[in-house]
Amino acid sequence: MNKLSINLDQKKEKINKNIYGHFAEHLGRCIYEGFWVGEDSEIPNQNGIRTDVVEALKKIEIPVLRWPGGCFADEYHWKDGIGPREDRVKMVNTHWGGVTENNHFGTHEFMQLCELLDAEPYISGNVGSGTIREMQEWVDYITFAGESPMADWRKENGREEPWPLKYFGVGNENWGCGGNMRPEYYADQYRNYQTYVRDHGDNEIFKIACGANVDDYNWTEVLMKNAARQMDGLSLHYYTIPGEFWEGKGSSTDFKEDEWFITLKKALKMDELISKHGTIMDQYDPEKRIAMIVDEWGAWYDVEPGTNPGFLYQQNTLRDALIAGITLNIFNQHADRVKMANIAQTANVLQAMVLTDGADMILTPSYHVFEMYKVHQDAELLHIDLNSENYKYEEQEIPALNASASVNENGEVNITVCNLNPEKDIHLESKLFAQNFDLSEITGRVLTADKLNAHNSFDNPDNVEPAVLEDLELDSNNLKVTLPAASVTLITLK
Ligand code: AHR
Repeated sequence: MNKLSINLDQKKEKINKNIYGHFAEHLGRCIYEGFWVGEDSEIPNQNGIRTDVVEALKKIEIPVLRWPGGCFADEYHWKDGIGPREDRVKMVNTHWGGVTENNHFGTHEFMQLCELLDAEPYISGNVGSGTIREMQEWVDYITFAGESPMADWRKENGREEPWPLKYFGVGNENWGCGGNMRPEYYADQYRNYQTYVRDHGDNEIFKIACGANVDDYNWTEVLMKNAARQMDGLSLHYYTIPGEFWEGKGSSTDFKEDEWFITLKKALKMDELISKHGTIMDQYDPEKRIAMIVDEWGAWYDVEPGTNPGFLYQQNTLRDALIAGITLNIFNQHADRVKMANIAQTANVLQAMVLTDGADMILTPSYHVFEMYKVHQDAELLHIDLNSENYKYEEQEIPALNASASVNENGEVNITVCNLNPEKDIHLESKLFAQNFDLSEITGRVLTADKLNAHNSFDNPDNVEPAVLEDLELDSNNLKVTLPAASVTLITLK
């Protein structure tokens, strides 16, 4: 019944490594505490950026990091965040808890973080409450090599050379927190603002327009109709929320199988959203020049009891590992259109990779999925046919298995498969077709746990982590594997 066929000679497109990108906003304890502790902190740091978090994130090879928001981006005035820290003006972070933002983490600090992580910076500019001039000057400040008021100011602030900057977002969620605009109005605003986002020297900016919220297909239609020529990418935001956004999203740890099922069903919706938005984009851009950039995705639950509701701090369980595994497989399968995605958010916020508590840091199950899946970065997507039984819960059903496969430049094949059924180990048989089949070595890694809400805590940091998968064999080109219930598996063939 459960069969996977993979044609090794049928390579599709490259899986852009930026699909494995991340997002870090000035929200709760993501930037402050999660990354930035300041130079005088007792927590080991490099120029104020904590070392443990950087070291952990380097292992998952973050290709691109989006900053400073989110909703924060359309209230952020970049000039407040440069120069001597003691002189930087403060602001109120009205979106996220009404706390005072001291602007100690600004452009220079972000660029340094990207250098430490070896990640490309992706900056979101302020359309909602910023001026065109402000946006233009930010790009000049960062990328202009010669003499100009902005470049000279950068040099005065200690950075002689410009930074390379490729990805620039012209606004964020301008249909909501970024100005409550109608798509027609934003399309015009986008055209106007992006005109002044200039390329300096050989720095070429890849301009990303604010895209739709979930299934707002009209937004995509209007943007593509009116501004396709001016954009390189169009974003899409979709969060997996088991309950309702405004009332009771659901607990991150206290749930039963009904919420497990509904959450994973909602995670699978990403496929439909990409297909439908992609179909609209195809009408205006059949060559697929314009990238779909899913620059916010992930699980969103009620905050941990006792924490600031505006800080969006939540735990991360085996269920989140499945959400990550499923969603990344979906992105891989749509590699022809999806060229970047940024999980929200890297540290201490929503579906985080790391959680920190003072000097302590733990890795989440989602982190481990990103570590396992990094083999797909820049590999070539392989055509697969997956025949899966259904996972039924009460009256509803969804496919029990979800997969993607790629081949890297050394000819190694990596298959990632999620078993969504929490009650049943599934035996999967796979046939690998190739004219010259010369793979003979097989290894597997699996992430699972005996409880659906299993998670890592500061007392038990290694409760959920990948293990070697023993139950697999390769006999000529026939692969047989048993996928444990509720698991994410990586199979590598050499
Ligand atoms: O990631 C949290 C918030 O979700 C972002 O600030 C916003 O863009 C989205 O609504």
